[in-house]
Amino acid sequence: MKPSIVVARPIFPQVLETLSKHFEVRSNQDDVPWTAQTWQAALAASDGALTTGSDPVKADLLAASPKLRICANMAVGYNNFDVPAMTAAKVVATNTPDVLTETTADFGFALMMATARRMAESEHFLRAGRWTEWRYDLFAGAEVHGATLGILGMGRIGQAIARRGALGFGMPVLYHNRSRLPAETEQQLKATWVSKEDLFRRADHVVLVLPYSPAVHHIVGSAELALMKPTATLVNIARGGIVDENALIEAIRERRIGAAGLDVFEGEPKVNPGLLQLEQVVLTPHIASATMATRLKMAQLAADNLISFFTQGRAITPLNEVPV
Ligand code: DGY
Repeated sequence: MKPSIVVARPIFPQVLETLSKHFEVRSNQDDVPWTAQTWQAALAASDGALTTGSDPVKADLLAASPKLRICANMAVGYNNFDVPAMTAAKVVATNTPDVLTETTADFGFALMMATARRMAESEHFLRAGRWTEWRYDLFAGAEVHGATLGILGMGRIGQAIARRGALGFGMPVLYHNRSRLPAETEQQLKATWVSKEDLFRRADHVVLVLPYSPAVHHIVGSAELALMKPTATLVNIARGGIVDENALIEAIRERRIGAAGLDVFEGEPKVNPGLLQLEQVVLTPHIASATMATRLKMAQLAADNLISFFTQGRAITPLNEVPV
């Protein structure tokens, strides 16, 4: 008998077809996410799961899912998983690194540019029919080329953003990360390690790319925002919980920082109404990795993790070690 898997959210039909050659597949291809109850029942009845970043796999669900052996996340971030609880329950966790690095870095850089150069705000103004004349200071924004780029979290995506800034836009790059990059990589990226405080103090544009864990919850709050230049831009493509949104709203309202670009939100898909009222904030619905080519690679890698695990006994990009 084929192992049973559950696919939590709509994915590419060709990936579903591949999966159905190997597995009994139950999938939610509706536009509406399953309720918590339906998700719990589906997980409990499955040997494996293909999840997205919005499908939780935490201790309570694991306790109710004794058959479950693997969850393959179609995302590089995995804060929807409780990995230690999964390891304890002998459930393999996988994610989709590498395949989305460049696409996500493109978006992070684009969001930084759109925010600094006031693209959303000026577009809304034009669409509203409010453009009546040329003015020297009409939507004058912040310089990007040659400005100082600060990157918090210098993993694969952070490095890809640094490369764009340093080599394409002549930006001095400051970064803060738990561990420093090798000297050779720092040289290639023209990047300098600084303390977190220095990064917020000195950067003209700060991009957040660090993985979320409870340890970094609200790591950007009023203290960090207070260090920033009044003209500086803050961009978050990591996870919503990293930024204290209320502190950010206050800092922008009081013009203590220039602008923000946010692709991720604390309660997403709900967005803090305070953010919606601010013109200097560019808001996008968690789409940094969203090109069809990249999303297909992510779905394929998640599917390949399931197939490899059940046919070869090991996943391709595991996040934990579970004795088979
Ligand atoms: C990721 O891969 O973590 C992106 O945020 C998409 O969910």
